[in-house]
Formats: sequence, C-alpha cells, structure tokens
Amino acid sequence: MKIVFGDLRTEVLYLPLWRKLPLPRSRRCNRAVETLNHMIRLMIAERRTSNVQRNDLLGMLLAERDEHGSIMSDQQVHDEVLTMFLAGHETSALTLTWALFLLAKHPEIQERAAQEAFLITTGLGLLPEDYEKLVYIRAVVQETVRLYPPVWSLGRSTRRDTTIGGLTVRRGTHV
Ligand code: HEM
Repeated sequence: MKIVFGDLRTEVLYLPLWRKLPLPRSRRCNRAVETLNHMIRLMIAERRTSNVQRNDLLGMLLAERDEHGSIMSDQQVHDEVLTMFLAGHETSALTLTWALFLLAKHPEIQERAAQEAFLITTGLGLLPEDYEKLVYIRAVVQETVRLYPPVWSLGRSTRRDTTIGGLTVRRGTHV
C-alpha cells in the first residue's frame, strides 16, 4: 500500500512506457501491485471454497447476481475489491489519525465524543444502525476532514476544450 500510494502522487509525471521498462521504480511498483493482487486472489479463493457466508462487503459481492442470475467472475470481484481496498484504506486511516490527534488536543471534546459513544453503543459495540445517532462524533469527523482533507487533490482529464475559472483549458489536458 505504501509503495503504490507513494508512487500515485507522482504518477502523473510517470509515463506509461516507463512502467513497462525494468526501471527500479517500475519494478518496485509492479511488484507491489502484484502483491496486492495476490492477496486479493487468495481472499476470494478462500471465501469461494469455504462454506462460511459472511455478511461483509466481500460476501455481498460474491452473492450478487445480475439480471440474468449470473454471479460475478473472479476478475470482476477482484477489481471491485481492489478499488474498495485502495479507496477505503488510506482515506479512513488518515481521517482516524487526524481525528484522534485533534481529540487529544481538545480533551473536553474528546470527553463529549466518548460520552456519546458510550450512550449510543451501551457497551455492546457499534451496530450499523448506530451510525446516524452519532451526531456529535459525525461533527468531529466532518471538522477533521475539513481541517485535514485526506483527499486534497483530484485529477481530471478534459474531454473537450473548455473554460475553468476563466482559464481556457484544451481538450486532453490533465487538470
Ligand atoms: C474519510 C474517508 C474517505 C474520503 C475522504 C474519501 C474521498 C473520496 C473522494 C474525494 C472520492 C472521489 C474521487 C474522484 O472523483 O476522483 C472518492 C471516491 C470513491 N471512494 Fe472514497 N473516501 C473515503 C472513504 C472511502 C471508503 C471507506 C471506501 C470504500 C471502502 C471508499 C470508496 C470509494 C470509491 C469506490 C470511490 C469511487 C466512486 C465512483 O467514482 O464511483 N471511500 N472517495
């Protein structure tokens, strides 16, 4: 994850051709991607062969059927899992890290957040239906991502000549 994410930041400047050459960076990144792929292949194979039905995201993807009643291929499930894994990993980790940092700096807010958690979960652990009741904690998280956005930049390619904020942007520009 660290290698793939580290490289993502400068990926814009790295040409697809270089990725195919045996340069140190390409080899390191391709190896890391292969490790991720291998891990996910194992997870899917393990779940498909076991009879255990688990009510989690992978369980939902494996049970899903399209309009013809067909299940997803291993490759389709794989791609979905990889997307969720990449998109959900560092974003959540950064949000939690900064939220805990901010709470540590503001003990009175930490106390109120803890009280809300105890009140809502009554010591039984968090249930999906609890989330909407965590009003104060949601505010803490929202303030955290406002102050320390985990995704502070996004890339887009223009499909036609256009104007953004008064600037002319040519088709095919990476913004
Ligand atoms: C605080 C946590 C998170 C933040 C700040 C965040 C932020 C974002 C942003 C800004 C986008 C839009 C990207 C774009 O348009 O180019 C996005 C898309 C996405 N995120 Fe998150 N995300 C978070 C957590 C998660 C988690 C936990 C998951 C999954 C387990 C996830 C899965 C996705 C997926 C699949 C997309 C693509 C949606 C689509 O284009 O159809 N995200 N996220």
